[in-house]
Amino acid sequence: MNYNKADFLASYGISSQLPASDRPEISFSGRSNVGKSSLINKLCNRKNLARVSSTPGKTATINFYGVDNCYFVDLPGYGYAKVSNADRQRWDELINSYFDAARHHTLLVQLIDCRHDISADDAQMLRYLHYHRIPYVVALTKGDKLKKSQMESTRQAFEKICLAYGCQAVVLTSAESGSGIPELQAILDAAVTGALADGEQTDGV
Ligand code: GTP
Ligand code: MG
Repeated sequence: MNYNKADFLASYGISSQLPASDRPEISFSGRSNVGKSSLINKLCNRKNLARVSSTPGKTATINFYGVDNCYFVDLPGYGYAKVSNADRQRWDELINSYFDAARHHTLLVQLIDCRHDISADDAQMLRYLHYHRIPYVVALTKGDKLKKSQMESTRQAFEKICLAYGCQAVVLTSAESGSGIPELQAILDAAVTGALADGEQTDGV
């Protein structure tokens, strides 16, 4: 994939407005503030493609990017304590209708902060992905915050948990240092190549 060919397309607050699923789709999910926007920027070698916020809970919409022949989909973050019940319900509806729709769910990248244990919300998301058989990998974020000596053992500890939930791979990444980004790009490339070989670009769903 040519990651330098990236454009912001649009934000959607209602899933019925989403663009036709006419190409492979890579989605990014995780807690608010985990680093979704930063990771998308780093994957695409850009500073401001996706907006990075220091205030959690900013991205309450589904944001679509065109990256080469794919969509990158930045899903709204979850687990932010200060959202109202109405916002939480809106999040549920938005996410459920996104996954229920007959779209090309080529691969989902589930982001988890490498410095913290898996939260109850993360575990619920992993169970959801597993139950619905959504193909996904885990990108541990903020790897630059770990000591070098902790990196592989941390990755392995998460891997042990995540593989039990049907995850395909666990990569330790940093949007600061760029570590793990080539590995993650290779995983996305392989998923997209497989999807295109299966005729996703022409056949519709
Ligand atoms: P929402 O859209 O609000 O759900 O957040 P998000 O998941 O898109 O997170 P975002 O990319 O906006 O990053 C949140 C904060 O974490 C920002 O202050 C980033 O600078 C910081 N951050 C993201 N990735 C990294 C990383 O790899 N290393 C470090 N040290 N900080 C990071
Ligand atoms: Mg964001």
